[in-house]
Amino acid sequence: MPAFDAIDVIRAKRDGLRLTPGQIRWVIDAYTRGGVPDEQMSALLMAVFFRGMDGDELAVWTQAMIDSGERKDLSSLSRPTADKHSTGGVGDKITLPLAPLVAACGVAVPQLSGRGLGHTGGTLDKLEAIPGWRADVHEQAYLRQLEEVGAVICAAGDDLAPADKLLYALRDVTGTVESIPLIASSIMSKKIAEGADALVLDVKTGSGAFMKDPGSSRELARTMVGLGEAAGVRTVALVTAMDRPLGRAAGNAVEVAESVEVLAGGGPADVVELTLALAREMLAGAGRGDVDPADALADGRAMDVWRRMIAAQGGDPDASLPRPAETHVVNAPATGVLTRLDAYSVGVAAWRLGAGRARKEDPVSAAAGVVWTAGVGEQVKAGQPLLELHTDDPDRIERALEALQGAVGIDTDDEPLPLILDRITA
Ligand code: URA
Repeated sequence: MPAFDAIDVIRAKRDGLRLTPGQIRWVIDAYTRGGVPDEQMSALLMAVFFRGMDGDELAVWTQAMIDSGERKDLSSLSRPTADKHSTGGVGDKITLPLAPLVAACGVAVPQLSGRGLGHTGGTLDKLEAIPGWRADVHEQAYLRQLEEVGAVICAAGDDLAPADKLLYALRDVTGTVESIPLIASSIMSKKIAEGADALVLDVKTGSGAFMKDPGSSRELARTMVGLGEAAGVRTVALVTAMDRPLGRAAGNAVEVAESVEVLAGGGPADVVELTLALAREMLAGAGRGDVDPADALADGRAMDVWRRMIAAQGGDPDASLPRPAETHVVNAPATGVLTRLDAYSVGVAAWRLGAGRARKEDPVSAAAGVVWTAGVGEQVKAGQPLLELHTDDPDRIERALEALQGAVGIDTDDEPLPLILDRITA
């Protein structure tokens, strides 16, 4: 690969010029190999933050990130494949019921997931609340489980877009996370490298999401759909509400329990609705749009796949989930309709109770979290238990309560977002 001068690449982007494909490929490759130092890459990321990238630049940037590792080959599988990605939210356990549900409908789901950071939970942290369950699955076992069970949710290996690991860590400490081209290339490089035929993106919007307003969430969704389609992956995005948390629980064990309720045919209406909407999109993308996932949820097939999926990774689907050492109840302050339950506040409270981590290496508590007895739009009575805080460490309760100050609104003029705001296609 011809060498460029990092300073020229930085100056070009700083001055609003378009980077050439050669410059982009070189700088991503050289940074991943250690040939461009953090200070120069930080300057380039900041220039991208302010100047953006056009569609062609972004496609080359994303491809260069994919090429920093391996794109998985799932062509040996006997069924089509579809994957889902959520931009992250509070109480967003949808992957847990969704992956076995879609697998039960004949489409394999390869889910390489991450851990939670900050106020949003991580799928692997949630599943690790199940006694014995392991997030690490090696290449051959991964393909075997996909073929035999139909769904795998596991940790991404080091060969999946390694450029993203380095760039994301650098963005985190240089104030360059909140950039649509950088977020889109980060997410899509990993998702395209996973090798699925079809991809459904759940782009969250609201206080608990990365993107707080529907306009920027739509723009992120359009950018990611464009990148997926350009890379040959059939991609659709739903823009969905994250002004309030999903379901009735945010944390680890509490979200596993709620997912199992959904797989058993019950569970909160919003979790069921979003799970089915995303499942329909995944099935349609994989060429199985004629299959109704509601049937597989109702007749127990999705639950069967869940049990096999958990057992295949060492977990005991019948084991009791961890219980907290301490619980604290917050009562409803008034009678009326619950018009606000702020997603960000609930996410921070769950995090402070021990469900999330501040740094990558921090441990999380399986039992910690927040459970609520009513969802937005429902009637509550003054004095009824509304929120239950779970923790292993009673000293954490006060800080969690601080996070919840102002989070609840009863008969206020807040207007909750519709659960599904938009559907974005190429
Ligand atoms: N998630 C990612 O994987 N990357 C980002 O940049 C933001 C969210």
